[in-house]
Amino acid sequence: MKTALVTGSSGLIGSDTVSYLDERGWRVHGVDNNMRREFFGEHGDTTWNLERLLRETKRFEHHGLDVRDRDGMERLVAETRPDLIVHAAAQPSHDLAARMPFEDFDVNAVGTLNLLEAARRHAPESPFVFMSTNKVYGDAPNELELVELETRFDYADPAYRDGIDETMRIDATMHSLFGASKVAADVMVQEYGRYFGMPTVCFRGGCLTGARHSGAELHGFLAYLARAVRDGLHYRIYGYKGKQVRDNIHSRDVCGAVVAYAESPRAAAVYNLGGGRGNSVSILEAIARFEDLFGRKLDHTYVDGPRRGDHICYISDLARFRTDYPEWELTMDLDAIIAEFAEQREPAAL
Ligand SMILES: NC(=O)c1ccc[n+]([C@@H]2O[C@H](COP(=O)([O-])OP(=O)(O)OC[C@H]3O[C@@H](n4cnc5c(N)ncnc54)[C@H](O)[C@@H]3O)[C@@H](O)[C@H]2O)c1
Repeated sequence: MKTALVTGSSGLIGSDTVSYLDERGWRVHGVDNNMRREFFGEHGDTTWNLERLLRETKRFEHHGLDVRDRDGMERLVAETRPDLIVHAAAQPSHDLAARMPFEDFDVNAVGTLNLLEAARRHAPESPFVFMSTNKVYGDAPNELELVELETRFDYADPAYRDGIDETMRIDATMHSLFGASKVAADVMVQEYGRYFGMPTVCFRGGCLTGARHSGAELHGFLAYLARAVRDGLHYRIYGYKGKQVRDNIHSRDVCGAVVAYAESPRAAAVYNLGGGRGNSVSILEAIARFEDLFGRKLDHTYVDGPRRGDHICYISDLARFRTDYPEWELTMDLDAIIAEFAEQREPAAL
């Protein structure tokens, strides 16, 4: 039986990775200290998701550890000798990082180094998957010429029709402190691949989503918007007339990519991973979709000024990953992703 170690296992990506691997016969060790609650308050509490995993899985073991605990991480990797490590624990918000820069860097950058080094010492042959982010490109994507359409921005240059690929530069651009701590981790993950020859990959995520996201105002765009429309919460649109575009990928399709990589890993790999153009949506368009879905209007205000470092139009070009892993495909289109929120049942939302 194969064993995996998944950090951030009560979060969106981590929890779906646990379920996905458990369904396929893996033994899974999860690491999560519910720090999302500390970051985002009650909406960020992931206890419900941990309880669900403990109920629904067969071979899952939870460890309430902190990825900043260097010795704890090393001990756990030494004891479990995982065949696969999926590192999805993070402080995931731009705005919060500016308020808590030490926690952000310690969790995102140093926590990643703790796991990399534990892996190098005790499981150097095992694929190491790091959930990176498109924020490593900072706001460089905003330098692309755009056209303003009725409900969204789009790229003016047809060369970008399929979106942004991995050759976009990552320096000399404003990342937000969150983006910068993820760059540090992303480069370190690549370095363990190049320098030590370990099978490491950075998945630079677009919007990773799904009804299991504990959506909070500062993180989890679709999940929080769904909650706001359904529960009558007040929603703030920050800048760009609400025409900013995100591409959305369901967490199960992220799991598919993780397993595809794990079955055929390569060292120091970097891939953009999002929903692509087909799954792209602007805030205005997403509001209209959820208003239709729930049959009620969103109570919202417009804040005249974007979040710092926010992308105006971001669509992931998936060509590199599709070329290397042709068997992988997106199974959830935008309609399916949005429809799933109608069944969203996490207690924190009720
Ligand atoms: N969701 C997105 O839109 C998105 C986009 C791009 C990249 N990513 C990246 O993907 C990864 C997973 O994102 P997610 O949306 O599942 O986030 P999430 O917040 O839902 O899950 C992260 C989990 O990590 C846990 N955690 C945080 N700090 C911890 C610590 N110090 N020790 C142990 N556990 C800790 C949290 O409690 C949470 O359950 C993150 O690295 C994130 O940066 C996410």
